[in-house]
Amino acid sequence: MVAVPHSRPPRKAPVYPGLPVVGSLLEVRRDMIAFFERAVRLGDIVELKFPARTAFVFNHPNHAKHIFVDHYRNYGKQTRGYQLLRMVLGQGLVTSEGEFWRRQRRIAQPAFQHGRIAHFGEVMSEETEGMLARWDREAPATLDLDRALMTLTLTIVGRCLMSADLSDESDAVGQAVTVMLRQTVYRLTHPLMLPLGFPTPKNRAFLSARAELDRLVYGIIQERRAGKLPPKPDLLSMLIETKDEETGEGMTDLQLRDEVMTMILAGHETTANALNWTFYLLAQHPKVSARLFEEVSTLGPGPLGVSELARLPYTEAVIKESMRLYPPVWIIARSATEADVIDGVSIPAGAMCFISPWTHHRDSRFFEAPLEFRPERFLGEAEAAIGKYSYFPFAMGPRVCIGNGFAMMEARLLLAAIHRRYALDLAPQVQVELEPSITLRPRHGLKMTLKRR
Ligand code: HEM
Repeated sequence: MVAVPHSRPPRKAPVYPGLPVVGSLLEVRRDMIAFFERAVRLGDIVELKFPARTAFVFNHPNHAKHIFVDHYRNYGKQTRGYQLLRMVLGQGLVTSEGEFWRRQRRIAQPAFQHGRIAHFGEVMSEETEGMLARWDREAPATLDLDRALMTLTLTIVGRCLMSADLSDESDAVGQAVTVMLRQTVYRLTHPLMLPLGFPTPKNRAFLSARAELDRLVYGIIQERRAGKLPPKPDLLSMLIETKDEETGEGMTDLQLRDEVMTMILAGHETTANALNWTFYLLAQHPKVSARLFEEVSTLGPGPLGVSELARLPYTEAVIKESMRLYPPVWIIARSATEADVIDGVSIPAGAMCFISPWTHHRDSRFFEAPLEFRPERFLGEAEAAIGKYSYFPFAMGPRVCIGNGFAMMEARLLLAAIHRRYALDLAPQVQVELEPSITLRPRHGLKMTLKRR
């Protein structure tokens, strides 16, 4: 039992009603976000009815702090969602736990630290300029922005962390990631699906997507093992060179595969979605778009460097505000290892615990006029007034996103460079629909018109 000081007697959390046996599964299948929004209207801690497992959703920053920061050791990743993700990511940094996770995190951390930042900035700007030069040449009237951003962020993560050129792999990776994410959600909400060993069409599609990603990842590892070294050590060389303190052994190819796969997948789709939603919001808020242009147009023409970031406070505020309204990781799940008490409510061992950045960020107790897109909230003193645990697009505590700084730099540099050169608008008759998968994506992509400034 985790010792949590509380003086009140235990109370019962309100229960979100569900059907016998299936509980709320059908509602979740219909619209996951709407389901969690309805649930948190009942209280800050609400018990959910899911088949075979007690579950709660928490909707208060104190609870998020309790789970992610103060008692994070008690809230692990033995959830069905993570089990399903392990079918693709194996035991990489996102999915592993305990001592193994701690060690892998220690090994990976230096690859994201200051010495590498200027280099990352150069790669980010160079690749963005390359994309903009292609737009200049080809002058497309409309563009699938989501695909362009996926390609760009995939290329960037490949170059920065693995010194690998993934630019030609983008379509294959994009399709494989879509299959994987959609099936993960499908399997989550259809617990009776046949295991992967049965050759159903869904299982075959999943295995073929995973094989495609394996081909790419093992290719990167083999190339590096064959001796092509980058001028400066990158994440991949750190992973390859590290030796176990006790046994003196390096990582196996399977361990490397899991870490590389994790970084590639966690490191591009999320940032691309953050930017998708940012351009989507800008297209609907001409005043914000104009103010942003005012800021970025002071920068002059050439590629942007890391030193220019300090001159882009509004750009940063726009991105933060966009991730407030559309957090790319919109729901985070944990499982209580031991029984606990949170805010007077008994949480049994094994209970599923959901915490949603989406519901926190859209709660009027924590953000004034929460549904309005107001980047000013993230400027100066206004930002300082935001509760420390109310805004958490990258989660928080020891398992906070390791790519947080990388992603913020990338999003700022890309947004500034693109907005400086092109005005993007939603293409006519385009319906933008949320796809709340593991990440929050535009279901039918994001078709936009382009106008060279
Ligand atoms: C806007 C972009 C991004 C967002 C919103 C985001 C969000 C998150 C969140 C919420 C988590 C915690 C998940 C959990 O604990 O269940 C996480 C973890 C992680 N993210 Fe990100 N992420 C972004 C970009 C990146 C990038 C660029 C990389 C790598 C280059 C990355 C790599 C990771 C890894 C490895 C973890 C697991 C960390 C650990 O548990 O030690 N992410 N991310």
